[in-house]
Amino acid sequence: MESKLREIRERVLGELAKAESSAALEQIRVGVLGKKGELTALLRGMGKLPPEERPKAGQRVNEVRAELEGALEAKGEEIKAREKAARLEAEAVDVTLPGPARGAGSLHPMNIALERMIDIFVGMGYEVVEGPEVEYDHYNFELLNLPKNHPARDAQDTFYIDDNIVLRTHTSPVQARIMTTRKPPIRIVCPGRVYRADEADATHSPVFHQMEGLVIDENITMGDLKGTLDEFARQMYGEGIRTRFRPSFFPFTEPSAEVDLTCANCHGEGCRMCKGTGWIEVLGAGMVNPKVLDMCGIDSKKYSGFAFGMGVERIALLKYNIPNLRYLYENDLRFLTQYR
Ligand code: DAH
Repeated sequence: MESKLREIRERVLGELAKAESSAALEQIRVGVLGKKGELTALLRGMGKLPPEERPKAGQRVNEVRAELEGALEAKGEEIKAREKAARLEAEAVDVTLPGPARGAGSLHPMNIALERMIDIFVGMGYEVVEGPEVEYDHYNFELLNLPKNHPARDAQDTFYIDDNIVLRTHTSPVQARIMTTRKPPIRIVCPGRVYRADEADATHSPVFHQMEGLVIDENITMGDLKGTLDEFARQMYGEGIRTRFRPSFFPFTEPSAEVDLTCANCHGEGCRMCKGTGWIEVLGAGMVNPKVLDMCGIDSKKYSGFAFGMGVERIALLKYNIPNLRYLYENDLRFLTQYR
């Protein structure tokens, strides 16, 4: 009995020393102290001993049991602590690591170009004015010397809300709105969205953007217009970009011009973008028709003025050497994010 007890004690203590996990520990505990454990069996077998030996034997078994329970518990604490340390290490979070990056957005290339255009004119003393996109026929056409049935209306077919209200075909109605409400000197630029009943292609879109310019004061001449647009071209595209004025017709200007810039892609050599001419048309301009001044309540004997209307998309395509207008509208991030 005593030797069996010793043998169990030695073996269990030996196993305990080698145990690595809570599971292994539990197996050892069940094997010795469980219902079918070795010590339990030994205790049960005591009935076979002579009665005078029983108290002594019982005491010994209990001593060994207490010792083994203590050893099991101590080892259990040790394993639990080790397992916890391992778990903490595995789950460790480095709070000093940077968080997931959130990419900053970027402006649309057309808006980058427009902001630059506005900056240049604000730098020359212009004020920025906006007008409605849903516009009266009166401002979009009539006050600009385009009466109903005027053939020049054909070039600006648009979307009609009713007989007297249209989606504006250009930013020029903002001129008319300002001329009818302010006294000269006037020096404004008017950026905004405009509409035409055009088929979309590489150079056209039914919705696009313009920036109108208007200067009215005493003694304003065509020379002022040329100087202003030359300075704009220089600031927008750098030295070496020239303007070319071609005679043209707009009912609201007299004389009128179509203005080209040196093709920024080939610097005037001639390429696909400028169709071999070395020039790209970017705006219409002219001296405000005295008839328009008078219709808007400005004395054409005292005042004169120039005006121009630029296509914002055209200016942006030229600035960034983009071959097709459609890229600006497809919202493909691979394209858009190149122009931060
Ligand atoms: N409104 C014209 C267009 O959309 C452009 C234009 C031409 C504007 C001459 C002007 C101007 O202010 O004077 O085609």
